Amino acid sequence: MADQEIRDRAVDALTRLVRDVPDFPEPGVLFKDIAPLLADGPGFAAVVAALADLGRDDAGRPAVDKVVGMEARGFILAAPVAVALGVGFVPVRKAGKLPHDTHQVAYALEYGEAVLELHQDAFAPGERVLVIDDVLATGGTARATCELVRRCGAEPVAFAVLLELGFLSGREQLTDVPVTALTTT
Ligand code: PRP
Repeated sequence: MADQEIRDRAVDALTRLVRDVPDFPEPGVLFKDIAPLLADGPGFAAVVAALADLGRDDAGRPAVDKVVGMEARGFILAAPVAVALGVGFVPVRKAGKLPHDTHQVAYALEYGEAVLELHQDAFAPGERVLVIDDVLATGGTARATCELVRRCGAEPVAFAVLLELGFLSGREQLTDVPVTALTTT
């Protein structure tokens, strides 16, 4: 299947199967719920195929060594993308969940801050990494993740999401990593 057809199928699935939930998790927030998409076999497969395509070179070979996903919804997407590419999956977790030696990066939330962690030995030196999440909002999670990948000696070569909330300008946090959003609101 041509690259454009793969992308078109994913965009169609996202348009049909991502549900807007008003006032969640708090009043005034319109939550993008990907549960209906994940529950639809062809739809889930379409977005995984489109994301995996971003990790291949022009000849269709894997162009990355690892796929990273962020807790929790990033895991759901990044793991099957890693399998599709035939490379390993690495989880970025919220503070206190990883058992071995970690690097940590704190990032600002609307109120307070959060911490993400990555195992120090997650990568071989210089490995090329595709970073995947479901949503790009303010960009704090993505920026912290790319910084963690670098601290662990690898290189984030691409960041991809299903949905970009363009009005939050999160893309501006990632000036040094190419960003691909399958859809933008
Ligand atoms: C959501 C989403 C992204 C992040 C995007 O995760 O899945 O990871 O927020 O927001 P940002 O661009 O403003 O950083 P959340 O922290 O809600 O975690 P969850 O997947 O465990 O619900």
